[in-house]
Amino acid sequence: MLFNFFRKKPSTLFYHTDVHCHLLPGVDHGSPDVATSLHLLGLQQKMGINRIIATSHVTQTTFENTPETLRPAHATLCQAVNDAAMDMRIDLAAEYRIDDFSLAQFKAGKFLTFPGGFLLLENAFQQEILGMDELIFNLQLKRLSPIIAHPERYPYYALNRPRYAQLHNAGVLFQVNLLSFSGYFGPQARETAWWLLENDLIDFLGSDMHHEKHALTLLQFIGSRDYRRLASRLASRLLNDTAIPL
Ligand SMILES: [Fe+2]
Repeated sequence: MLFNFFRKKPSTLFYHTDVHCHLLPGVDHGSPDVATSLHLLGLQQKMGINRIIATSHVTQTTFENTPETLRPAHATLCQAVNDAAMDMRIDLAAEYRIDDFSLAQFKAGKFLTFPGGFLLLENAFQQEILGMDELIFNLQLKRLSPIIAHPERYPYYALNRPRYAQLHNAGVLFQVNLLSFSGYFGPQARETAWWLLENDLIDFLGSDMHHEKHALTLLQFIGSRDYRRLASRLASRLLNDTAIPL
């Protein structure tokens, strides 16, 4: 009893909107079913999140999702959240790997953005695509705001840091994975995440949550001194809660 009385309350995030997670049931290698989605949303709530942007993978061959495949999964999860009387808003978007499948969808105007026109892009992991600058420019001409998902995780950027500022100055926004700061994605991603923080190049944070291990590691990390350091640096500039209209 005495132990419980003194037990520290779990720490929570300093923002309430998670802009990157794979919690729609059965559409990629994130949550496989509604029960798992509800469980993971419960862990998001424990961290202080009350709104998620569902960003399921859109990747050629593996997860060829379209608005038609994602909308029913979104509706199912919203219904389940409602039935469970859970206070959680779920907006529908996607995480677009830049490949021929996504480019064809962009061309056809069949793609999902965050409210406000933010488009979450995932680069290839081997090298930047040819024509990246042109793609960014063309998206911006359509009044879209491209966000690069976890820029710290691409080795070719981590080894060519001036490219970060170049992209950012061209209006590209950066969404860093909170788990990268903890070393979860290896030392290079960790070091680069901290470097992006020190250089004021982070616009959004995301969980990129696929499964329970991500959630439990995050819950542990947000109780750390490292988390408090990054939170104090980002508190006044993070866009998670301020830039995306309801
Ligand atoms: Fe992701």
